[in-house]
Amino acid sequence: MARVGLTNRCRLILEKPFGRDLETAEKLQDFLEAVLPEKRIYRIDHYLGKESVEDILIFRFANSIWEPLWNRRYINSVQITMAENFGIEGRGAFYDGVGAIRDVLQNHLLQVLALIAMEPPGEMSASSMEMEKLKVFRAIKTLSKDNVVRGQYVGYLDEEGVKEHSNIETFAAAKVEVDSWRWAGVPFYIRTGKSLAETTLEVIVEFKQPPRMLFADTQEASPNILRFRLGKNDGVDIELMAKAPGDKLATQPVQLNVEFTKALGERQEAYERLLRAACLGDHMRFARIDTVLETWRIVNNVINGEPDLHPYFEGSWGPDDANELIPGGWIDL
Ligand code: BG6
Repeated sequence: MARVGLTNRCRLILEKPFGRDLETAEKLQDFLEAVLPEKRIYRIDHYLGKESVEDILIFRFANSIWEPLWNRRYINSVQITMAENFGIEGRGAFYDGVGAIRDVLQNHLLQVLALIAMEPPGEMSASSMEMEKLKVFRAIKTLSKDNVVRGQYVGYLDEEGVKEHSNIETFAAAKVEVDSWRWAGVPFYIRTGKSLAETTLEVIVEFKQPPRMLFADTQEASPNILRFRLGKNDGVDIELMAKAPGDKLATQPVQLNVEFTKALGERQEAYERLLRAACLGDHMRFARIDTVLETWRIVNNVINGEPDLHPYFEGSWGPDDANELIPGGWIDL
């Protein structure tokens, strides 16, 4: 294909979704690479431009206390929730061809998962980061109808631009298995939905219980929890046990928390950071094609009308079936 007219300074900035499934993403890439080299392509996933999301890296790799705990020996599960308390806001024509899995799970949520699950990169460079994320995505088993729940809010079919009998999901939850040395056996639960009870973006790392309940008759069965709040009012909360006031040696959960805006000041907007980075030729905050194709492979069997849709009411936490994915249910947000 001709490369006429493309200068060395030419950059292509693409907004997700990059393709509709694995096949179309591969075709799009074949077309693009005939026109431009990969180093001139910038694929925007605006979650990678969020300071709160980048903080996961700092939290994990600039503090030495977490690494010894960050594995299957100490972590019971990881839950990632991106919930919105509003519907499709007039975007029916777009959304009805996409659905929650393509819109946010395949990209935003899997990217967040990768930052939680990845090994420390050798250096803070785009290629080292992508290499580590790719290893995480490759270790994830392809999702199937047995570990995914799809839902649609009641009233979605009346939205403008939505097809009469649309089978598109506005809610999705999945149990993701990262089959790696570090994570084998630790379930990662992810869920997202429109018209839910709250707008929030959180990662909850649930640690294992102590090996013995020394305060058995007075100890609440409440594991330590590390909570990354990544949306508005971003920050970190840690739930620990403390001694309950009084005579007995009894436990009571307490929270340590920090709000980053209060502690550190205002954050920059994701798109502002991404567009500046693309102009400067910095790939650190962009998704590379091999990682994008892996994420399409992960969702490829659950984006074409399967599994069945479950209805849910606006203002709820999605269909009840989503609770059945997790023994004990989702941890409260
Ligand atoms: C977009 C999706 O990529 O992300 C929207 O297309 C979604 O459907 C939005 O509402 C959420 O972004 P944020 O930054 O508000 O979490």
